Amino acid sequence: MEHVGQQVTLVGWVHRRRDHGGLAFIDLRDASGIVQLVLHPEQAPAAFAVAADVRNEYVILVRGEVAARRPGTENAEMPTGAVEVAVAHLEVLNTAETPPFPVNQDTPVDEIARLRYRYLYLRRERMTGNLRLRHRVVKFIREFMDSHEFIEVETPVLNLATPEGARDYLVPSRVHPGSFYALPQSPQQWKQLLMVAGLERYFQIARCYRDEDLRADRQPEFTQLDLEMSFVEEDDVLDLVEGLYTAMTAAVAPQYSFPSPFPRMTYRESMERFGSDKPDLRYELEIADLSPLVRESEFVVFKRAIEAGGRVRAIAVPGGADIARRGIDALTELAREAGAQGLVTMAFTGEGPIEAITLDEVRSPVARFFTVEQIVALAQAAGAGRGDLLLAVADRDAISSRALDVLRRQLAEDRALADPSRLEFAFITQFPMFEWDENESRWSAVHHLFTAPFAEDVDRLESDPGSVRSHAYDLICNGQEISSGSIRIHQRALLSRVLALLGMSDAEAEQKFGHMLEAFAFGAPPHGGMAPGIDRTVALYAGERDIREVIAFPKTKSASDPMTGAPSPVSAAQLAEVHIAVVAPAAAL
Ligand code: AMO
Ligand code: AMP
Repeated sequence: MEHVGQQVTLVGWVHRRRDHGGLAFIDLRDASGIVQLVLHPEQAPAAFAVAADVRNEYVILVRGEVAARRPGTENAEMPTGAVEVAVAHLEVLNTAETPPFPVNQDTPVDEIARLRYRYLYLRRERMTGNLRLRHRVVKFIREFMDSHEFIEVETPVLNLATPEGARDYLVPSRVHPGSFYALPQSPQQWKQLLMVAGLERYFQIARCYRDEDLRADRQPEFTQLDLEMSFVEEDDVLDLVEGLYTAMTAAVAPQYSFPSPFPRMTYRESMERFGSDKPDLRYELEIADLSPLVRESEFVVFKRAIEAGGRVRAIAVPGGADIARRGIDALTELAREAGAQGLVTMAFTGEGPIEAITLDEVRSPVARFFTVEQIVALAQAAGAGRGDLLLAVADRDAISSRALDVLRRQLAEDRALADPSRLEFAFITQFPMFEWDENESRWSAVHHLFTAPFAEDVDRLESDPGSVRSHAYDLICNGQEISSGSIRIHQRALLSRVLALLGMSDAEAEQKFGHMLEAFAFGAPPHGGMAPGIDRTVALYAGERDIREVIAFPKTKSASDPMTGAPSPVSAAQLAEVHIAVVAPAAAL
């Protein structure tokens, strides 16, 4: 309102135009927002005539006077909703074809169109807002890290290829025929070398590249806040990251509430209670172990599963007794897709205390195998009362965890159990050091091979690798892994032992990690760090499910860019220069 009476010149895009009461109105959009223009046929006949031909997304320049809108026509939804510009002069700076999808409304757009016309999709207010939010996140991080005495160091993008979990993107060398660089999956080794170099506190807003199967929370190139600290223990790193997320969330996403302090839970506890190492803690649906209660039951499915070394685990769905037959079938199908043999369901109907329930009031395909006392005991163990639904899976823990995790997530979605205004941050700690890789018949590192084992577990490295706990930790929020890190091995001998355990010969260890082994022989300090995913963090703050909505130019699920056409074949001459011959895939021959 303070601009009323001022003469202004404005440039921008035609967001929308309409005619009303003999006047023409244009919503003019620029990077700062939208303002309403009004064109009077008598006061500015030339401008009014030009406006008649103006269409959405034309680029125009106008001159005129800022005026208060007539009472009753103000728009409280717009920051500029109390004023308008009475246009005296209007020029078209550029015309625009009709966009392939509306820019002025947030209607769904198919994936290819969204990426092919990315520059138009980014004109949408939500997308512009997401990019601004991302800018604020990165700016906040840089200032926070600087104020905590971290320094930002850039590290190479052309690297030695080393196994680090995902598949590498390779870059052929022209000057070294037959040799390749790998793009970094993360700057992991560089940041550890910077600790050996004595930096003590490093960070970087780092681009990482991984050739892996893509999902809503995975892109082939993504950004991490990569950080590393010397002379620290696990809690120092967690405290730093907790401090960052606490301050940053309050500053850039104040609409959310979150816990303080962030709960810290071991991997084991998380798997036991939620069947996942990244549970959504906005709702309960906790897993209970029913095994002791059903061991002696008549129901062979349960008995056999327990005899085979499994357990019977269950969740209680509050109010779930009202889920119809079709809903139960869908949940059973979901459990099967997750690997379960089946799903036992028990709905407790009627009123009053659960102890007084009768067999008629229990809706379950397996009710006849249990006495009413057994059923009451099961309900109580799972925390179910009248009106609730019990879902049980009998299997090995790996399977029951996976199935119950999927069910928890689906039920929360179906029944809107998650409060959208909460960010339920938590740290998961004490991940196992190794997991058995069935395909390769060898142990592999759960986090990465530089992760330090628990000192008290080191003795069992060779004899019982599966039982060794590591100083790896994750920051999770609302069912997603946001950040991952660990305290590192800093002693050469221990690193050699771990490499051997992972099935690496001395020669191979030397070829792939010789530089690290050597560096560790020169007084490497104890160190550790973490790497929050920036894309996931911004998506969380923005309330977006797909990280592509917070990346300016992302790729499709098959890692291509429909706008530029990348990746593309290159000329024979270009290939020859880098000593590459392409072997066409069988399907193309
Ligand atoms: P990690 O591989 O767990 O750890 O990655 C850390 C964080 O990076 C994000 N992230 C991704 N975001 C989008 N698309 C992807 N494809 C993708 N992959 C990972 C996640 C994840 O939590 N060097 C170690 C960190 C360390 O030990 O310090 C590392 O990269 O938010
Ligand atoms: P069945 O004896 O296979 O007909 O199964 C009887 C009931 O038990 C069905 O409701 C199945 O979905 C369920 N069921 C079968 N196997 C399991 C299992 N491993 N865990 C939980 N429920 C199961």
